[in-house]
Amino acid sequence: MNDLAGKHIVLGLTGGIACYKAAELCRALIKEGASVQVVMTEAAAQFITPVTMQALSNRPVYGSQWDAREPNNMAHINLSREADAILIAPCSADFMSKLLHGGADDLLSLMCLARPIDRVPLLIAPAMNREMWDHPATQRNRAQLQEDGCTVLGVGTGDQACGETGDGRMLEPQELLQDVVAFFQPKVLAGHHMLVTAGPTYEAIDPVRGITNLSSGKMGFAIARAAQEAGAEVTLVAGPVALPTPRGVHRLDVKSASNMLTTCVEYAQAASIFVAAAAVADWRPALSADQKIKKDGSGQTPVLGFIENPDILATLANGPRALSGGLFCVGFAAESHDLLAHATAKRIRKNVPLLVGNIGPDTFGQDDNALLLVDASGATEIPRNSKLALARHLVADIARRIAK
Ligand code: CTP
Repeated sequence: MNDLAGKHIVLGLTGGIACYKAAELCRALIKEGASVQVVMTEAAAQFITPVTMQALSNRPVYGSQWDAREPNNMAHINLSREADAILIAPCSADFMSKLLHGGADDLLSLMCLARPIDRVPLLIAPAMNREMWDHPATQRNRAQLQEDGCTVLGVGTGDQACGETGDGRMLEPQELLQDVVAFFQPKVLAGHHMLVTAGPTYEAIDPVRGITNLSSGKMGFAIARAAQEAGAEVTLVAGPVALPTPRGVHRLDVKSASNMLTTCVEYAQAASIFVAAAAVADWRPALSADQKIKKDGSGQTPVLGFIENPDILATLANGPRALSGGLFCVGFAAESHDLLAHATAKRIRKNVPLLVGNIGPDTFGQDDNALLLVDASGATEIPRNSKLALARHLVADIARRIAK
C-alpha cells in the first residue's frame, strides 16, 4: 500500500545527532509514495551531508535563503507552496524556540513562517538530551507550538547519544512514518473511544498446556490502528500474539476468555464503540490443573471436560450502555462455509447492529482478507485487500453509522 502516494513532503533537518535517522526516514517516506524535498539548516549539515540527502531524495537539497537556483530567488515561498506538509525531523530545542518566536534568519525557519498556515501543516519530531527536553522552557515551547497549530510528534525514551537515558530521543523512522501516514487520514472518529478485542484466547489445561486457535490478531490490530489514525482513543485487548502495538494505542494483554471479558467490561464503561475481532475460545477445560498432568505409564489418557466460555460480545451488546445507545457494537464471524447465512443469523443472535463476516481458514495469519458487512438491511462485500485497507474501510463505515 502506498499510503503517501501523491503527497509532497518538505523534510526539514536541524542540528542534532538524530540527523542520521533522517536519512532512513527520507527513504521510508519515498517508499510509501511521497515525494520529498529536503531543506537543511547549517547545523544539520554538521551531522549529515546534503549529498547523502540529495542522493536519497533524488532532488537537490536546499540550505540557504540566498540560493540562486530559484528563478525568483524566493526558495522559502516556492518550496512551502508546493508542500502538503512540512516535517522537521530532527527538530532541535533551538529550532523549536525559533519556530515559537517566528524567527526567520535561515531558509527553514523562514519557510515555516512563510507557509500558508491553513493549507500547509507543520509537524515536528523533537530530538534532544533528556534535560533539554524536560526543561520548562522546552515544555513551554512545545505547548505553545501546539497551541499555534503545530503537530508535535512526541519523543522516544531510552539511551541517548550523550550517554544519558530518558525522554528526548527522536522517534524511529518507522514510527515517524506511521505518524505521518496517520496525520493524513480523515479524523472521522475524533472524540470517540473504541474498544477492540484481537487475537485468540488461551485456555489452560495445566501450567504448561492449553487450548488456543490459529487467529493471528492481525485484523483486530489493523482495526485498532485504523481507529487511532481516524482520531479515536483506542483500547486494544489482545490475546496471546506477538504483534507490535500500533502507535498511540493503549494495549492490554490477556490470556483466557474470562480475562478478556473482565477487561472488556471494565473498559467498555468509557467506550463508545466496541469491535469484537478476537477469536474467543468457545470452551475452556472444566478443570485447570495446578501442576503439570503427568503420564502414569498405564496408557490411559486424561479425560477433559469443558465449560462454555462467557460470550464477551453478547455480554456487552446486551449490557446497559449498548442498550441505551451509548456503545455501538460490531461483531465478527469467522465461518468455514455459508458465510451470508451464518453471519446474518449470528448478527441477530448477538444483537449487534453490524456483523463482519469472513471465511476463517482463508484469513487466519494472512495479511489480506475479504469482508462481508451484514446489517439489518442486508449485506455488502468489501473485496479482498490488505487488512489495514479493510480496517480503514470498516472504520469509515462505522463512523458513518454512528453519525446518523
Ligand atoms: N465472541 C465473543 N465471546 C465468545 C465467542 C465469540 O465475544 N465467547 C465474539 C467474537 O469476537 C466475534 C463474534 O462473537 O465477534 C462471533 O464469534 P464466532 O466465534 O464466529 O461465533 P460464535 O459465537 O463462537 O459461534 P460459532 O462458534 O457457533 O460459530
